[in-house]
Amino acid sequence: MRFTIAIDGPAAAGKGTISRAVAERFGFAHLDTGALYRAVGVKAQATGRDPVDTARSLSPADLERDDLRTLAAGQAASKVAALPEVRAALVDFQREFARREGGAVLDGRDIGTVICPGAEVKLFVTASPEVRAHRRWLEVGGDEVQVLAEVRERDARDMNRADAPLRPAEDALVIDTSDLSIEEAVAAACAAVAARL
Ligand code: C5P
Repeated sequence: MRFTIAIDGPAAAGKGTISRAVAERFGFAHLDTGALYRAVGVKAQATGRDPVDTARSLSPADLERDDLRTLAAGQAASKVAALPEVRAALVDFQREFARREGGAVLDGRDIGTVICPGAEVKLFVTASPEVRAHRRWLEVGGDEVQVLAEVRERDARDMNRADAPLRPAEDALVIDTSDLSIEEAVAAACAAVAARL
């Protein structure tokens, strides 16, 4: 059985949590596509190599680095993610993953619009910038005002880039998690999937 669930949305909206829960609930494989861009950004910065070459030669070990979840890695990711050749280098891997036997959940920014426009289910998970910054701050600590500034900066870069900008697909179900508990958000996502299975 091939069945693709595309889950897009801005940073810290709850995509990762919802994607993992949906994948577990339906027994599907899960790919966090943000990790690909984070790995390219962090590795290119660490080695001084060209981000496009880095994307073309990305290996599974690069996705295991333990510095991928930092705010700095998120910023590095969104910079390299604006380069069309970096995005192009990562397309085939994501599409193959999406069509694997047994079903797949992919979360990112452009899964429903560019990578898998034919996905069986498309969700756009969002929340206000303040709520997202607060959640990120609970994870990373530091200065919450600074975290909000970084969230807004990354939103602007992701939404305004020319190639694959962040936006909901026309046929995506929008889930605003600002006032939802994790359980409520996961239930809404699972209901949307169950309705299509
Ligand atoms: O989801 P996450 O915060 O890990 O993504 C890091 C960055 O990678 C995003 O801000 C975005 O610029 C980029 N990204 C992307 N397309 C995706 C996934 C992530 O451009 N499908």
